[in-house]
Amino acid sequence: MCGIVGYLGEEKALGVLLEGLKRLEYRGYDSAGVALVSGERLHVVKSVGKIRELERALRDVEPEGTIHLGIGHTRWATHGRPSEANAHPHVAGPIALVHNGIIENYLEIKRELEEEGYTFLSDTDSEVVARLIFHHYGGDLFEAVREALKRLKGAYALAVISEEEPNCLVGARKDSPLVLGLGEGEFFLASDIPAILPFTRRVLLLNNGDKVLITPQGVSIVDEAGVAVERPVQRIMWSIAQAEKAGYKHFMQKEIFEQPRALADTLRSYISPEKGEVYFPQAALDDASRWRRVTMVACGTSWHAALVGRVWLEPLVGVPVEVDIASEFRARDPALDGDSLAIFISQSGETADTLAALRLARGKGARTLAVCNVVGSSISREAHGVIYTHAGPEIGVASTKAFVTQMVVLYLLALRLASDRGRMEKEEVSRRLGVLLSLPGKMEEVLAREGEIEGLAREYFQVKDFLYLGRWLNYPIALEGALKLKEISYIHAEGYPAGEMKHGPIALIEEGLPVVAIAPRDRVYDKMVANVEEVKSRDGEVIGVGTQGDPLGQRVDRFLSIPPVDEELTPFLTVLPLQLLAYFIADRKGCDVDQPRNLAKSVTVG
Ligand code: M6R
Repeated sequence: MCGIVGYLGEEKALGVLLEGLKRLEYRGYDSAGVALVSGERLHVVKSVGKIRELERALRDVEPEGTIHLGIGHTRWATHGRPSEANAHPHVAGPIALVHNGIIENYLEIKRELEEEGYTFLSDTDSEVVARLIFHHYGGDLFEAVREALKRLKGAYALAVISEEEPNCLVGARKDSPLVLGLGEGEFFLASDIPAILPFTRRVLLLNNGDKVLITPQGVSIVDEAGVAVERPVQRIMWSIAQAEKAGYKHFMQKEIFEQPRALADTLRSYISPEKGEVYFPQAALDDASRWRRVTMVACGTSWHAALVGRVWLEPLVGVPVEVDIASEFRARDPALDGDSLAIFISQSGETADTLAALRLARGKGARTLAVCNVVGSSISREAHGVIYTHAGPEIGVASTKAFVTQMVVLYLLALRLASDRGRMEKEEVSRRLGVLLSLPGKMEEVLAREGEIEGLAREYFQVKDFLYLGRWLNYPIALEGALKLKEISYIHAEGYPAGEMKHGPIALIEEGLPVVAIAPRDRVYDKMVANVEEVKSRDGEVIGVGTQGDPLGQRVDRFLSIPPVDEELTPFLTVLPLQLLAYFIADRKGCDVDQPRNLAKSVTVG
């Protein structure tokens, strides 16, 4: 989730690029850089930190004259930690490139290029693309880009320039957005509309697979099949603030809708479905056969992901798995030793209690593994190994897309450990990976029903209490649904394992109390249906979350459906209507959805 900008025109490119990058900084900000072509020379300046650091670095080296071609990048690290070497643009011979996305087969291509004698300066997948383009370069940049892209698997939005072709800016996209802005005698490329809004409101939205050649004479686009095409010019009416949220009202809403993409990006980084393999960095797992016990530690939503993860890991890996809230883990002086794998899950990687718990576990000799979204964060640096989620920057205080990516990493971890320990055949891993790949499409289906959920929010936004019930994999989803609602709408909400109802919470049921019952078709379905009947017979109002077409839909007061899916994967779908319900209720109540009272995105005090 980086931001990219490109410019070709009569203005000074540098000013345009910097202005554009500042508008993208909200997406990622651990390093930035620009490449400009002037007098057939490439000038590249990069720096670690925010755009203002780049401006400082540019003060010393800004090339003279009116340069009208350039590309810029602001980075949210995925492959390789934040550093100048890993910052974009990446240079190969006369070529400079900026990239947003994840290239799945970059290691394979890197190996081949190394055999051809190429050397690499960074750990990034993006540099591999730059060198591959250079490898095909014979003086026609557009051709070289088209040739190189034939080899790439994964997602990309690219802007590429060559010092040998100072009148030419090339762009390409697949599964990562890229827009083309049209000015008066000038052209802009950007990963996101906010970057170009200060300059023009006329844009072309490139389609998946499009490649574009921009010269002072105009624009030519070829589609995925290599056929010359035209894309309609659109006029963007959004304000800059609206554009940052891609037209959504809040970052949380935008992030909810980004979940299919976030899940696909995370999957794509770590799997080979054909080979039935899950690739994680070696340091992440060490010797998988050694672990006699797994402990997972986290806070808030990340703790809920750990609770889901336990249900997958324990039976598949065949070792005891414990889950702890970080502050409690610290308090209770846990018994850990060298045979324990301790996993610390954190979106920010900076949560004070989780960090302290990690230090405690390391001190006791456990092998530590971080599951983090922010590259280079404290938890990711201090653990022995790290697996990154690729959710991209999460700005809303309420965690949404980080949660689904944490869950998918834990599911992949379960498959990988099960396979390494000889408990699962490659064919079965392969089958399960194939099913995982169908999830983003199913998630889109659920999200498409937002209107229904908004309608429900209109009915319930004035209610004072909510109860959420679930069992097995969906008990943590009940907790997560309740947490989402309370943190952004300030409505009191409790999540409970439905089997505990009779041990106390059933006393709360009275006429009109909304009870969200998560009951997809799975091994605990019948028991959940019995719980629904218990609530109904005490005049509670049941909002059921279940499988499309299920008779449960007739027994509850309101029904939110998910498409059929393997019973083990339902949490990826059941959590979505709950996030949307919380979101629409909070919005309806006029709450500050992205920055709820008393909360911070990253809790750095323990
Ligand atoms: O950055 P972390 O994942 O370590 O944060 C943990 C919690 O603070 C976080 O999940 C919090 O509960 C969210 N506001 C939930 O939406």
